[in-house]
Amino acid sequence: MDKSLNEIKALLKKYGQEQLLDNYDKLDDVKKKELLKQISEIDFQLVEHLYQTTKGTENNHPVEEITPMPYLDKYKLGEEYKYYESIGKKAIKEGKLAAVTMAGGQGTRLGYDGPKGTYDIGLDSHKSLFELLCDNLKEEGKKYGVIIPWFIMTSRENNKATVEFFEKHKYFGYQKDKNIFFFIQGELPMIDTEGKILIGEDGLIKLAADGHGGIYESLVKSGMTEKMRQMGVEWVFIGGVDNCLVKMVDPVLMGIAIDKKVTVACKSVVKANPHEKVGVFCRKNGKPNVIEYSEITDEMAEMTDKDGELLYGESHILCNLFSVEAIERMGANPLPYHIAYKKAKYLDKDGKLVVPDSPNAYKFEAFLFDAFGEVDDMAILRVKREEEFAPVKNSDDVGVDCPKTARNLYKKFYHLD
Ligand code: UD1
Repeated sequence: MDKSLNEIKALLKKYGQEQLLDNYDKLDDVKKKELLKQISEIDFQLVEHLYQTTKGTENNHPVEEITPMPYLDKYKLGEEYKYYESIGKKAIKEGKLAAVTMAGGQGTRLGYDGPKGTYDIGLDSHKSLFELLCDNLKEEGKKYGVIIPWFIMTSRENNKATVEFFEKHKYFGYQKDKNIFFFIQGELPMIDTEGKILIGEDGLIKLAADGHGGIYESLVKSGMTEKMRQMGVEWVFIGGVDNCLVKMVDPVLMGIAIDKKVTVACKSVVKANPHEKVGVFCRKNGKPNVIEYSEITDEMAEMTDKDGELLYGESHILCNLFSVEAIERMGANPLPYHIAYKKAKYLDKDGKLVVPDSPNAYKFEAFLFDAFGEVDDMAILRVKREEEFAPVKNSDDVGVDCPKTARNLYKKFYHLD
């Protein structure tokens, strides 16, 4: 039940967030109710803790010992290739695999105003990223005589537009709530440099997606893992929406996970160059993890082994396979948040819209790979970049990881030229 206005006022006073009601009286009744509901749902202690981390007074990331992570090369498995493949094929035929596509991010770097999955990368077919991913999923399912259940993670911001897009395209042959499901990722309030929560243009709390690290909790809370279990699913491939060559169905990867009795198995590609903007697999304090491109030092990025290969060269391409049980375990524990300093429009105390021209607010994001430390071990499978990694991150003028490069890689792989 909604808390009364007085209770809310007391709560805000306790946490020094009284500014949230500055423009309350100017809102209509529906928005008033919505704002009070939002406030009653905020975890103010968490917000306070996050603010402290921005000041560096609370250490969010304790000192870590970083070491390289061993991997298997898919194309150097020799005889074992067929062995793993047969194990994986059997499990896929038995309906044990589902796919999850993370499509909650905003296409800011791409300069596209819409759900990224609806983006047309410029192929002759003009298919969207969602359709390209779906084509592959259907094609693979056919090989094994199954329909691979597909779960799409959206954000509050793009959920409606995403579902409408699928509806318009008749779910590309999938059936809503039978074999395609949508769930919404979590959000956190944005705060200013004083730790004050911002009010957005709509008069409500300024919320931002809490990063893909929230996926485990969202999968559990939205009932998706329960649904998976009911469907007999044991393994879940989780991938990004922005890789048009993503191969969500890989019997070799699955066979390795099953045979080696690990609950997580991830694909990697060799880093194109030491400074490519990808995270790389590593161990942190002995536990599996990924070190982000924004967090690795130049020295570490350039380190090589005795064969001249990059020591930290196995790129994390957001192609990760989990057992349902691992997802549930990872969803049970909070992950650390990474801080991003962003430009965020907000309403000031007089209700005037402020449009900043430089960053003014903190956004907090959890990364899915920070949960990797929850498992004792995982398998890494190196695959071929030209077969599995064609990301669409930037606009064409940037020249890398853009629609043009992705389109060319896609055409080459499918012999479309
Ligand atoms: C990401 C990875 C990086 C990896 C690279 C490969 C992170 C933090 N880093 O970098 O390790 O090497 O991809 O391409 O992810 N998403 C959501 N909700 C969110 C945030 C993101 O669904 O709140 C989705 C996006 O829609 C996208 C994917 O996650 O599909 C990647 O997110 P993005 O923020 O673009 O990550 P990168 O910085 O490119």
